[in-house]
Amino acid sequence: MRMLVSDLDGTLLGNDDALSRFTEWYTTHGDQFRLVYASGRFFDSIVELIHSTQLPEPEAVIASVGTRICLYPGGEHIDAWPQCLGHWDVKGICDILTVSSKLVLQPDEVQTEFKLSFHADGLNTSDLVKMRRRLSEHGYSAEMVYSSNHDLDVLPAGIHKGSAAAFLASEWGLKPKQVVVCGDTGNDLPMFMHGFRGVVVGNAQSELKALQSPDVYHSEQEYADGVLDGINYWLRRQTVTA
Ligand code: GLC
Repeated sequence: MRMLVSDLDGTLLGNDDALSRFTEWYTTHGDQFRLVYASGRFFDSIVELIHSTQLPEPEAVIASVGTRICLYPGGEHIDAWPQCLGHWDVKGICDILTVSSKLVLQPDEVQTEFKLSFHADGLNTSDLVKMRRRLSEHGYSAEMVYSSNHDLDVLPAGIHKGSAAAFLASEWGLKPKQVVVCGDTGNDLPMFMHGFRGVVVGNAQSELKALQSPDVYHSEQEYADGVLDGINYWLRRQTVTA
């Protein structure tokens, strides 16, 4: 068995015709893969997308940038996730970070106990390092996940889509080489750091286009067509094992 973990917005979603082609392929070949969606969205918002588009039904959902794993369709949380948390208090972290005027808090409904999200345009690596250092001076060990030059998610260190996918693969008894991951922006980046077979779609942001690794395939095709092209790439090479 294999596992397919795909981001939604900008990866499987973005071109309806491409999604139809993916869904058609999944209907006939999907039994080779356990399907998982990994998104920055919260669980209910992902469920709405599944209901309102042609997305096939997954077995599990990694929601809120990896801070929550839920089974589908029931929505049962995997309680053992997230694990290994240090000192974490979103209110305290928010107070420390909002001293910087560049950050605008995202709406309440997207914030969770373990995900504090802002909009912030044009941050650079040094801004992110400074913010992480400031948090660390207050005893917080955080992951700063910056996507599309616009969204900043502050998560507990070591918790992101990549570690969540690794946790689920291990729960399901799968090795990294049995897992294909697909994405387009910065919050997908950690999924490409776990020895999985990676697919970057052709419309990806520069933060993913820059990835260079024998485990990462850069498709020239966009959205769901890129996902399908990438899956076929790894299957053809027989480097994604069954
Ligand atoms: C989704 C989430 C948002 C997050 C972004 C990037 O848009 O709703 O909170 O910042 O993904 O991870």
